[in-house]
Amino acid sequence: MTPTWTPDSWRAKEARHVPTDYPDMAALAAVEQTLRGMPPLVFAGEARRLKSLLGDVAAGKAFLLQGGDCAESFKEFAADNIRDTFRLILQMAVVLTFAGGKPVVKVGRMAGQFAKPRSSTVETLNEVTLPSYRGDIINGMEFTAEARTPDPQRLIQAYSQSASTLNLLRAFAGGGYADLYNIHRWTLGFVNDSPQGARYHELSEKISEALTFMAAIGVTPESQPDLHRVEFFTAHEALLLGFEEAMTRVDSTSGEWYDTSAHMVWIGERTRQLDGAHVEYFRGIRNPIGVKCGPTLEPDDLLRLIDVLNPSNEPGRLTLYGRFGHDKIAGRLPALLDATKKDGRKLVWAIDPMHGNTLTANNGYKTRPFDRILSEVKSFVEICKAQGVHPGGVHLEMTGQNVTECLGGARALTEGDLADRYHTHCDPRLNGEQALELAFLVAEKLKEDRVAEAVRAAV
Ligand code: PEP
Ligand code: CO
Repeated sequence: MTPTWTPDSWRAKEARHVPTDYPDMAALAAVEQTLRGMPPLVFAGEARRLKSLLGDVAAGKAFLLQGGDCAESFKEFAADNIRDTFRLILQMAVVLTFAGGKPVVKVGRMAGQFAKPRSSTVETLNEVTLPSYRGDIINGMEFTAEARTPDPQRLIQAYSQSASTLNLLRAFAGGGYADLYNIHRWTLGFVNDSPQGARYHELSEKISEALTFMAAIGVTPESQPDLHRVEFFTAHEALLLGFEEAMTRVDSTSGEWYDTSAHMVWIGERTRQLDGAHVEYFRGIRNPIGVKCGPTLEPDDLLRLIDVLNPSNEPGRLTLYGRFGHDKIAGRLPALLDATKKDGRKLVWAIDPMHGNTLTANNGYKTRPFDRILSEVKSFVEICKAQGVHPGGVHLEMTGQNVTECLGGARALTEGDLADRYHTHCDPRLNGEQALELAFLVAEKLKEDRVAEAVRAAV
């Protein structure tokens, strides 16, 4: 028999990467109590809507595009940053929709992506050792003992920043900014004069022509209000379980529990232990959820995890993100795909080509070579196709800002360029140009698929 689940039943399990070194644990408990009284950030009905769209992805009828900062920060919090990442996602979605001929489900790693698992609990610099930075919801990045001490007030600040971010995203998505008639205006200044900018311009011309044609036959924004808005969802790694627990509420319509801190939440590679606290928490919430699948995951263990997280085999409930590394994916993914397919598991298979391709440059910067990121995405699509599994989506760390954090891309960023605009609070992100380049590559792959499908249908 499955033991009873409660929003706090995770507390009886081992909770890796959840800090217990607050100077005053009672103060943390008081903050969590305050959060319990705060309004939810999302509604259960919206989470169900995303689950149903992800069900379409699981059925091969749509594609998932998920992206945003590795870690949001209090310092980089600004309307322009939110807008730029949002419009980059819109641009990429247009590229992918046009090529694949399928709807793109848009999910931001935004409005709550604050807590980070770290490979080491401490950091040493010039012979001084301090606790590692664990994300702005826990402690500060500055290398001082004071900043690195966990501070419960940060949970409140993260909640408030998430609420403002979500408010702006909702306004952009529904208030006219995302209007398809604005397609030319979504371009980011620095991308305009790049090869990707030119390709995007060409594509937006085609779409504008199609819109003119549609208007001529009577399909206008007045008859189709959906042309004026997009559906946009938020997601983050639900690592800091005390915060997530405080945001967990019963939905009055269904009587079920939802994590109302985001539409979708996922379990990271380091916290997916079957008997661990994170899996315990996630099994009880009804949101769509994700799990990162790295190179050490064995097919049997994956099936056991799915048994716990999606016992009723509900399509759209579970998204698996492979994150193996460009050189490991061919050795690891096929057996996992085979296991879930043979067993009839209904889920989304997506790829996170970022986390298996991180390295430290000679000058000390953590970076990711763009060609390895592309290579893992390409391998993902090819392996999925060979095994008859829908390559359901991509999960990226990216920003609309013109940063220099990943090597390569059309402008061939070198190690020497990294220092120019390296702003990430954790892992290196694709900049707008690199992200768009990746979208065009995936689009080409999706188009091959579409053409092949059409040919099959015709014979
Ligand atoms: C992340 O998505 O930022 C992350 C930490 O990924 P992973 O759990 O796959 O290492
Ligand atoms: Co990351």
